[in-house]
This record gives sequence, structure tokens and C-alpha cells, in this order.
Amino acid sequence: MTVLGIETSCDETAAAVVCGPGERKILSNTIRAQIDEHAEFGGVVPEIAARAHIEILDRIVAEAMKEADCAWEDIDAVAATAGPGLIGGVIVGFMTAKAIAMAAGKPLIGVNHLEGHALTARLTDDLSFPFLLLLVSGGHSQFLLVRGVGDYERLGTTIDDAIGEAFDKTAKLLGLPYPGGPQVEKMAQKGDVQRFKLPRPFLDRPGLDMSFAGLKTALRTQAKKLEPVDEQTVADLCAAFQRAVSDVLSARTKSALQLFRERHPQAEPVIVVAGGVAANQEIRAALTGAAKEAGARFVAPPMRLCTDNAAMIAWAGIERLQLGPVDDMNVSPRPRWPLDPERAGILGAGKKGAKA
Ligand code: KG4
Ligand code: ZN
Repeated sequence: MTVLGIETSCDETAAAVVCGPGERKILSNTIRAQIDEHAEFGGVVPEIAARAHIEILDRIVAEAMKEADCAWEDIDAVAATAGPGLIGGVIVGFMTAKAIAMAAGKPLIGVNHLEGHALTARLTDDLSFPFLLLLVSGGHSQFLLVRGVGDYERLGTTIDDAIGEAFDKTAKLLGLPYPGGPQVEKMAQKGDVQRFKLPRPFLDRPGLDMSFAGLKTALRTQAKKLEPVDEQTVADLCAAFQRAVSDVLSARTKSALQLFRERHPQAEPVIVVAGGVAANQEIRAALTGAAKEAGARFVAPPMRLCTDNAAMIAWAGIERLQLGPVDDMNVSPRPRWPLDPERAGILGAGKKGAKA
């Protein structure tokens, strides 16, 4: 099967053509990140993101089709992110996919963005179920037990900020440019990790939930005391912040793997990491160490497939098609769409449902 995937749920406009499931091949994977559009605001502005998607998506799709050397007849289905995400962008991508599917007479698959992340390791590493996923991005921080396509259990999540969001807010408060994660990492390399003591939020509590908002507040309090902060202080604060996040993730990963073993004693314990924060070398090293200590395999798909992309959406479409015919022409884009409906939302439960 050959599927066209479209992703527009945050600040990446992406289209890809992927073949599978037998011989898995990414025929094209086109991405344009909106950096300049949001830089002056220090974070993604939803309305600007949606407009930027509208302006470029048709060209991105055309480019992906051209690179894959595909005509519409060669495509078996169109898959697009239908949520969760910034709703303006999701509408742009999903409606574009709907129009293409209708015009070309192909089935449409409305993909859950988180399912795209969850199934990527099956595209890259041919992983079998079950496995554990740690998703750490700007919008999500969660441990998911992936038992099968559409069969997920959220074992733990952040009760406030996502980790990437905490990195971005920390950068902003220290006067570092957007996107903050890579900047904090760069500064941390020059920092003294011993100088500031920051808390390890939630580690005294059982379970796998996490909290990062307090960490950022503690950092702000330390910075305020020393204002105006010099460059070395910024570096030292970044080092302390990054170490605190790594420690929390490492401890929670070990507990998550223990839970995985209890649930699936016959299965090989595997932990997959996805999301932009997985680019952080210290965090990666901490997770690798935690997996090793727990006797588990650590899988990190290549960064281009770990961060937001459309190949993962096309692949999730292929996995969905394996379960039987799909035609989601009546599906509506949605801002919130938990993978595990059994788990009540912890954060921002409103009339549209929970944010996390
Ligand atoms: O997965 P992603 O590209 O997009 C979504 O949020 O869905 O993740 C972006 C997030 C941003 O918050 C960014 O600051 C963070 O990942 N990030 C990093 C690093 N590179 C990106 N955080 C820490 N260290 C990094 N090297
Ligand atoms: Zn994502």
C-alpha cells in the first residue's frame, strides 16, 4: 500500500508518501518548520501557524508527491492528522486531505497525531507489540503502553507543562531565543551543574505522573535573586534545569519499565522515545542509562522521524488500513483527542475535553 500523509497540528507543515506494511519504505518526507513566523513571540502563535499552513501546504504536498514519483492513481489512501493539536492548523491539513481524497476518489484516514508518534518505531525498527513509549515534545509528556494499533494505555503524564514547553518557557525567562530547548542545551554545556539546587518534582509520589511547572518557578526564583543575571549564571541555571529534568525522566522510566514487566512478563521490555525533547543529548543519555539498568532495549527513531513529520501519519494510516477498510469522510478535526479514553484528563478539562 502507498499512502500520502499530511501533518499540520503544530508548527510543522509536512507531507510524505510511505509504502508498507510488508516492504516498508519512505518514498518522500517533506517538512517545513515555521521558525521565523513565531520567533518574535517566543512560542507558537496558533493563528499565525494556521495561516502559514494554508499558504504552503499545497506546495508541500506537490513536492512530496513529486519526490516519491507518484501520481494520484499510485496512492491507495490519504491520511492526515485529525487531532489533537492547534485546531486552526488541524483544520487546514485535514480539510486539504479530505479534498484530495474526494477529488482523487481515495479513502481518507483521520489519524490521531499521538498514534503517529506511537507507531513510528514499527516503521523504523519493525517493532512488535507490546512496547513502552515515552513521548516528550512541546505539547505532550507521557508514558504510553502500546499494546496494538488503537490499543493504548496511558501510564503517566504531566499534570501541568509538557517538558518541551518547560524548556521553552525557561529559555524565554532567561532571555534565550526561540525555540528554547536547543538553546538551553547549548548553554547547559557551559554551565556548572552543582551551583543551583532545583527540585525533582513529584518523585516523592508513587505512580508515573510528572510535573514541570514548579521546576520552572524554582528556577525563576533563583534567577530573580541574582538579577541582572550574567551569562555564566544563565549557563549554570540551564545546567541545573536540564539535570533536574533528566533525573525525573530517568527515575520515571525505570518505574515505567518495572510496570511493563509486571503487565507483560513474557514480552521483551522495550522503551521507545519520541518527540523533539529526545534530541537532547543529556536526556537521551539518561534514558539510555535507565533502560540499561532496567535490562530493557532502548529504541530512538532517527530525529527526523522523532519530531513532528508526515511519514509517521502516513504509516499510522497504513497500520489502520491493515485492520480493515477505513473512510473517515465524516470525521471532524478535533483539538483534543486522548489515545487512552479510559484515562480521565488531568489538565484543562473543559467542554472540549481534557488537554492532557
Ligand atoms: O516534537 P516537536 O518537534 O514538536 C511538538 O511539540 O510536537 O518538539 C518540539 C519541542 C520544543 O518544545 C523544543 O524546545 C523541544 O522539543 N526541543 C528540545 C531540544 N530540541 C527540541 N528540548 C530540549 N533539548 C533539545 N535539544
Ligand atoms: Zn508531535
